[in-house]
Amino acid sequence: MCDDKCYKNRRTESLRSGVRQCGYCKSTTIHLDTLAFNGIFYIFALIYNMKNMHELKIETRAQVFSYAELPASLQALVQRAKEQVQNSYSPYSHFAVGAALLLDNGEILTGSNQENAAYPSGLCAERTVLFYAHANRPGIGMRALAIAGYTNGSYVDDPISPCGSCRQVMAEFEQTSNHPMQVLLCGAREVYLFESARDLLPYSFLKESLLSER
Ligand code: THU
Repeated sequence: MCDDKCYKNRRTESLRSGVRQCGYCKSTTIHLDTLAFNGIFYIFALIYNMKNMHELKIETRAQVFSYAELPASLQALVQRAKEQVQNSYSPYSHFAVGAALLLDNGEILTGSNQENAAYPSGLCAERTVLFYAHANRPGIGMRALAIAGYTNGSYVDDPISPCGSCRQVMAEFEQTSNHPMQVLLCGAREVYLFESARDLLPYSFLKESLLSER
């Protein structure tokens, strides 16, 4: 039995809310009033949180074209991306990717994936051309980027989907371009046309995300 004195001397420990143990004789006491109070509190907290919980809808869209349906200028860009797979250095994945970037001055720059025996040192085709463009044509906006994938002797059936890191870089350089950058993902028969790089990375982390924290 619990010694009344030790309880009065506060030699009790709280095991969990509403349950206390006497430090002297180790007997436990359940305080129903505390339990009930906490229970009501948790139910209210749950109802309050449920009221605030709502859905955040993030939508994106692309247009699907056959090659013949694409405007001629974009067909030419796609063609350059497809040709560029020849320059891929992909002895490890055997997955060749070509990218062609149309600049505001009408110039088309190209890039391909470059792999390395130290795998993470390699770079995707998209970032190869995007970084090259930003380094060598500073201040010139980027209009459109076409990407093509090739493996096992043919172009990939489904339009190639850029990795997250490339989408992040596209989103940033679209912002520095001050206008949308179209992105064309090439498959064997169809091309997915995104009107903006942001459509491939909705809810992106951009420079405002850093500034808002200052
Ligand atoms: N790769 C690209 O170059 N772009 C993409 O959009 C997807 C993947 C490369 C990286 C690596 O060299 C190979 O494809 C296999 O992942």
